Amino acid sequence: MVSKLKPLQIGDICARVPIIQGGMGVGISLAGLAVAVANEGGIGVIASAGIGLGEPDFFTNFAEANLRALRAEIRKARAATSGILGLNIMVALSNFADLVRTAIEEKIDVVFSGAGLPLNMPHYRGAGAHTKLVPIVSSGRAAALLCKRWTARFNCLPDALVVEGPRAGGHLGFSMEQISDPAFALERLVPEVIEAVRPFVEASGRTIPIIAAGGIYTGADIHRFLEMGAAGVQMATRFVTTHECDATSAFKQTYLDAKQEDIVIIKSPVGMPGRAIRNRFIDAINRGEKQPFQCPYHCIITCDFENTPYCIALALINAQKGNLTHGFPFAGANAYRTTEIVSVKELMAELVREYDEAAGYEGLPPQAAIGGDDMAKEIDFARLTLQDALDLAVLIEDEAKDRYQEFAEQMDACFTPEAARFFRFMSDNEAKHGQALRARRKARFGDLPVLVHRSMIWEVEAPAYEKARSFITPRKVLEIALEAEIKAHDFFAAAIHHLADPDVKALFEELRLEEVEHREMVTTELMKQPPDDPRDPDDFADEPTEL
Ligand SMILES: Cc1cc2nc3c(=O)[nH]c(=O)nc-3n(C[C@H](O)[C@H](O)[C@H](O)COP(=O)(O)O)c2cc1C
Repeated sequence: MVSKLKPLQIGDICARVPIIQGGMGVGISLAGLAVAVANEGGIGVIASAGIGLGEPDFFTNFAEANLRALRAEIRKARAATSGILGLNIMVALSNFADLVRTAIEEKIDVVFSGAGLPLNMPHYRGAGAHTKLVPIVSSGRAAALLCKRWTARFNCLPDALVVEGPRAGGHLGFSMEQISDPAFALERLVPEVIEAVRPFVEASGRTIPIIAAGGIYTGADIHRFLEMGAAGVQMATRFVTTHECDATSAFKQTYLDAKQEDIVIIKSPVGMPGRAIRNRFIDAINRGEKQPFQCPYHCIITCDFENTPYCIALALINAQKGNLTHGFPFAGANAYRTTEIVSVKELMAELVREYDEAAGYEGLPPQAAIGGDDMAKEIDFARLTLQDALDLAVLIEDEAKDRYQEFAEQMDACFTPEAARFFRFMSDNEAKHGQALRARRKARFGDLPVLVHRSMIWEVEAPAYEKARSFITPRKVLEIALEAEIKAHDFFAAAIHHLADPDVKALFEELRLEEVEHREMVTTELMKQPPDDPRDPDDFADEPTEL
């Protein structure tokens, strides 16, 4: 997926796609959803609220059942992805500290923590732990307060902050009146929080990425908040209607069936408002009916369990299981907009595509944007002359030739001669094509100066630097080459639609067909290779080679 979307950097971790899937309790975002999001380059988040739901002793041994299930869920997710995994832990949970400690012990990448201010969270992160701590706040005041407290007590700052606005799903950090007050709209809160943390950022020389959440639904929404200065977004509602979401299909169906007027604010027993999908259970509570229950464990500190008409944990557990007579689903303000269940892959691709459209890529299909900002800005395909087109084609071949040559040298240095040989073979091929194109250019335009430069075609055909790994097999080398040939093919194919000059069009079509031939050649070579070691190359390969 080539996009203008910038990755999200939180300390030393980097999410290729700056989308965090918001944690959804009870049991709505577990390993299944989190892994799917992490695999697509976002941050997948497991919700810890009521995570022990499937344990046999959940009602009798609540605290232990939850910690056990938490460990198991993190391990399950970790085993299924090398992507970035987070855990959402509500500060208001009675066993907050134990959950944070356990998550850090299990080496979760990020802990997100809201529904209260996690004033002491750094205390649970021992020396040497790499887990990032990311509080969820609803105001600039809360953000500044946390920064001040963490600096004074723990000499650290939040690794990032999620700013959650009043259109989010679940419990909301606002009063009933604030929810519909435009002064508290996320569009106001994001700049407010950026300003609030600025003095701490300037004094420390560190960065605190701000992540916008609550009501973000499309790629255009993502674009809007990133333009405002957010480094990423957190989205939850949108991920409920995915195949991978861990809720039952009955739960997901409530989203598909919901109309705008069904999305309501409830007064949760934990003392905060919450957003949910209205149903008979909610109507009954609103009429003053009670759902008697025995509180097995005072799971939320702020819950007035002796006086509340129902148990919020039980209601959410029932909903998760599809028992909507005895519960209700939490949902964001946009839940009524969902119309179908899609895969996380499809959803992420759609969001990225929409983002690119909003960022001004309408005129260029994503493939034509290969190479990033410079090329997209600098090549005016509609006015491209044959001379410039030939020069660009030469540059594309030259860059690929040089890249393969560099890879070959790295493989020599890494004692991987077979891989080096294959990279050299690719480099020689690219050199031949470059020479042929250069000769054509000379015959037609002589020594007229070259008006284009390499930055305009960055990595059209050259494989990305990080593709070269030590101990790489010839099969992997060929896979890299195949991917590069496809990338170049897609570039020419996409650009053709934007060309005006018929000679340039003919040239690009010729180059496109050449890439088809190369693809076949590489595929033939690939089929001759024995299968790779079934182990994940990450188990035995090193980090991407540094240049
Ligand atoms: C079903 C559901 C359950 C949620 N559960 C939690 C939770 O357990 N902890 C939490 O901090 N936020 C929770 N949230 C809030 C989300 O993590 C997220 O920040 C928010 O919903 C983002 O807004 P969006 O849903 O409009 O994208 C929940 C949201 C939904 C829809």
